[in-house]
Amino acid sequence: MSGTTYKSVRGMRDLLPDVTARWLALERAAVDALGAYGYGEIRLPLLEETALFSRGVGEATDIVEKEMYTFASRDKDATSLTLRPEATASCARALLQHGLLHNQAQKVWYRGPMFRYERPQKGRYRQFEQIGAEVFGIAGPMVEAELIGLCADVFAEIGVLESLTLELNTLGSGAARVAYREALTGYLGEHFDALDGDSQRRMTTNPLRILDSKVPTTQEVLTGAPRLPDFVDEEAKAHFAQLCSMLDSLGVAYTLNPGLVRGLDYYTHTVFEWTTSALGAQGTVCGGGRYDGLVALLGGRATPGAGFAMGVDRLVLLQEACQAGDPGPACDAVVVCADAAASGYALRVARAARDAGLRVRNDQAGGKLKTQMKRADASGATYALIVGGDEAASETVGIKPLRGGEQREVALTALAETLTAF
Ligand code: HAM
Repeated sequence: MSGTTYKSVRGMRDLLPDVTARWLALERAAVDALGAYGYGEIRLPLLEETALFSRGVGEATDIVEKEMYTFASRDKDATSLTLRPEATASCARALLQHGLLHNQAQKVWYRGPMFRYERPQKGRYRQFEQIGAEVFGIAGPMVEAELIGLCADVFAEIGVLESLTLELNTLGSGAARVAYREALTGYLGEHFDALDGDSQRRMTTNPLRILDSKVPTTQEVLTGAPRLPDFVDEEAKAHFAQLCSMLDSLGVAYTLNPGLVRGLDYYTHTVFEWTTSALGAQGTVCGGGRYDGLVALLGGRATPGAGFAMGVDRLVLLQEACQAGDPGPACDAVVVCADAAASGYALRVARAARDAGLRVRNDQAGGKLKTQMKRADASGATYALIVGGDEAASETVGIKPLRGGEQREVALTALAETLTAF
């Protein structure tokens, strides 16, 4: 009789050892770059009060309107809690809470799962992983240039930079956005009946998001709409021009996209996305921008901020699509031991080889020597280290190069030296 079997929740994946090596290598590249730029890690809770996101990310955004995992706390006050859909608001909350935004700049990074109730498909999951960085307390365009340059370094390191386009836009100051919003709603109001239902609803909630509509009739109306760049104030234009010239001097290529608004409400000035055509509909692997109003919105003093978050799931898919960053086999050597009496000695041999800097797996799955050798070969390792009763008695090891070469017998004391010299 079969019992109940359980499956992972829709949109939430198990990442098994055959893929996690790639994940780890990718995360290491990002973490190393963040360290090299002097950013400090911040670890944040997965659960926050719902109000943090509805206020920080914006009531009328897709994330807050329909994608949050929200439930009542089990505490007496039954506060509404939400699994974090993103971490920028949490970062601002944490730094504010700990008094770390007062008269000082902060550069932090984070990584971990985010949760959004979206329709799952390739590259879009309900639990997904981000690595992000946020800078607080610095106003100039140099911050955005540094953040973008950092992304470019990571993408180059993991072998996907050539497959990506950096799209860049400026939303102008908060005041420019208000003026633009009015002009846009005025124009769209005159064409209300030609808009799709979603866009009609957004007229009152979040008209800027109508610019993202993919519905052809709405797109046609949009061709005659007022354009955001015409409303951007001179100061914001100068900020943006400086950013572009810094990117030029860093040698980072970009494409200006005046239609890029991003789906989160906190942005002001610069917004950017790294996109690829290699992943179909889910082609944005990283998004970010400046959010000078966020800290004040959450109850702090006016504090400039800017950051980005990369979607690790999508970067892994992109690496696979462009055959970049193969992490190689999981170990360099496998210890093969067909004589149970020599098990203790096999453990010593494995340790000696690890001391020589190799990644060593003890086979331990049993069976004849031939079977174990087959497994060692299939693992992709470079060597099999063969141990039996004779080797244990004489404190020697058989080194068999698995990718061609003769087997040799060496003393355990000479193992490290021999492996290094191979
Ligand atoms: P976002 O554009 O919502 O921005 O997400 C950033 C990245 O996370 C996306 O470009 C994508 O690669 C990945 N991502 C988002 N949703 C999913 C999903 N359902 N499945 C797989 N990957 C996904 C933010 O989250 C902002 N907090 C970024 C930021 C930081 N802005 C300033 N600082």
